[in-house]
Amino acid sequence: MSDENFYYPSQHVIDNANIKEYDDLYKYSIENREEFWATHAENINWYKKWDKVLDKSNPPFYKWFEGGKTNIILNAIDRHLSTPARNKLAIIWEGEKGDVRTFSYFALNREVSEFANILKSMGVKKGDVVTIYMPQIPEQLFAMLACAKIGAIHSVVYGGFSSEALADRINDANSRMVITADGGFRRGKVTELKSVVNKAMELSPTMEICITIKHAGIDVYMENDRDYWFHDLKALPIASHKCETEEMDSSDTLFLLYTSGSTGKPKALVHTHGGYSVYTSTTHKMVFDIKPEDRFWCAADPGWITGHSYIVYGPLINGATVVLYEGAPNHPYPDRWWKMIDKYGINILYTSPTAIRGLMRFGDSWTKRHDLSSLRLLGSVGEPINPEAWKWYHHVIGQDKCPIMDTWWQTETGGFMITPLPVTPLKPGSATRPFFGNEIAVVDDEGNEVKAGEEGNLVIKSPWPGMAAGIFRDPERFINTYWKKYQKQGWYLTGDSAKKDEDGYFWIIGRTDDVIKVSGYRLGTAEIESAIITHPAIVESAAIAIPHDLKGNCIHIFAILRKGYEASHELEKELINHVSIHLGPIARPEEVKFVDSLPKTRSGKIMRRILKARILGLPEGDMSTLEE
Ligand code: PRX
Repeated sequence: MSDENFYYPSQHVIDNANIKEYDDLYKYSIENREEFWATHAENINWYKKWDKVLDKSNPPFYKWFEGGKTNIILNAIDRHLSTPARNKLAIIWEGEKGDVRTFSYFALNREVSEFANILKSMGVKKGDVVTIYMPQIPEQLFAMLACAKIGAIHSVVYGGFSSEALADRINDANSRMVITADGGFRRGKVTELKSVVNKAMELSPTMEICITIKHAGIDVYMENDRDYWFHDLKALPIASHKCETEEMDSSDTLFLLYTSGSTGKPKALVHTHGGYSVYTSTTHKMVFDIKPEDRFWCAADPGWITGHSYIVYGPLINGATVVLYEGAPNHPYPDRWWKMIDKYGINILYTSPTAIRGLMRFGDSWTKRHDLSSLRLLGSVGEPINPEAWKWYHHVIGQDKCPIMDTWWQTETGGFMITPLPVTPLKPGSATRPFFGNEIAVVDDEGNEVKAGEEGNLVIKSPWPGMAAGIFRDPERFINTYWKKYQKQGWYLTGDSAKKDEDGYFWIIGRTDDVIKVSGYRLGTAEIESAIITHPAIVESAAIAIPHDLKGNCIHIFAILRKGYEASHELEKELINHVSIHLGPIARPEEVKFVDSLPKTRSGKIMRRILKARILGLPEGDMSTLEE
């Protein structure tokens, strides 16, 4: 290893780390993958142990801990009730207005059991899909956990999505119930949720019941026999705090989570009770070095995979205390997060490069008002972190003593795939090396490993317990999207391009498919293009990602006007709003450029690469496939 460029952990970090050594354990985990994972599966509870660690009989539909019976709630809640963790805080929640609610594991169990009984009384059964569209409040977690407890499948839709996007997801999942709140708080304002759900319900033939939590205190329209207030249901005798946890097969579905891909509509990745429990808890414990007394804050939204795996399931299985905050990081002032770290004595902060860059821009003086000395570890996820933001995070927030866990993973992977451990020497901007059990490589289109420092496709060569079990009701799409390209070798295609350096460290470059990462959020160009095209002025369009200082990337759209429409600044503004209303504010384009034609290949595929080069003033590259 070349010594310069490395940030070494202090002796204190090494002395206290749960895992002190990487190389030998990594080697062991690769050579004995199933034994390695069986050992970690022993750390969680099972109603019945598995017959087989890994069933490889029908790839890529791998089944982990086959024959085992468990429920993620058995591990995330039930088992803590007979240990001292029963009286430990599971959740510390702070609202944007400064209101605080806390729940011990004992209290969490009561809340989740009551919620579960309410769901049962409304006819929710094992295997039903329940849609959750909520602000970041404790009830969002209770709803997820209640579904899991009774064997229902939750499908959380991020609360920033539009009614159309929500309806698409409800319809695809055939969901008949949605759980929401009247509204949430963001930057001092109320964001309406129930009214969005009402519109979505009109677009959803399968939707029958909506349960609404009163949170923002706003007036909302409620329909008889369709809409129920949560507090009314909670007051009924049916909402007993005693509820049996349903025994599930290891490979039974725990949740669906929609994510964007290259083509068409978002797809629902399926995660299961057994493998996902083992993977999220093991990765969380090893990478964030969880100790019983830790307060862990993953500042993501529970509506994304990061929140599912590392706010809810991983930490609760490990009996940790999680911090949850509803509002904006800079409300009322840019020191809101630093104040919370000080106030709650938070030990681990896990967030995104976008958030770090956003807070960095307010300068260091805001951080200096607070005591951040409780922090021991930091984390980053969602997009590559630029070295400047990494160094600021390390120096100003981590006070040069907190290693940064730059975790690379995806909705599909369930948990961390490439990540440092606290003892790993770090290089700013690199997610470092594969987590235990994972063989990961950078290869060319034929599958040959490229030379150190060269760019190629990032692939995962071996199965892991957190892997998605499939795309909901679409096995073909699962195979075509992830497994077809390297079918011969049986490798998983991540859709990212990356480099591996001479020290074996991975550097993620970005997506190779038509996925755009805006502020760490994943959007498909196809989704954005189908949204803008619903406007009568547009006949065809192409969305591309352009680098952006704060957001990582932002969206630019090239659009062809229908006859009779004139390009104008007003129309551009209208179109920008149109996309934002159709998909949600995260998809708001930076710019819409009007053009007469789009560069296409002879087979009719839009060459986004050329459009991007034009905006950035870069060479347009190989044009041989371009049709005039
Ligand atoms: O491009 C990679 C990027 O996020 C993609 C996965 O997005 P999503 O499924 O929304 O999950 C995000 C949270 C796990 C990846 O294909 N990505 C994620 N983490 C990193 C990253 N890029 C660079 N560095 C990371 N640490």
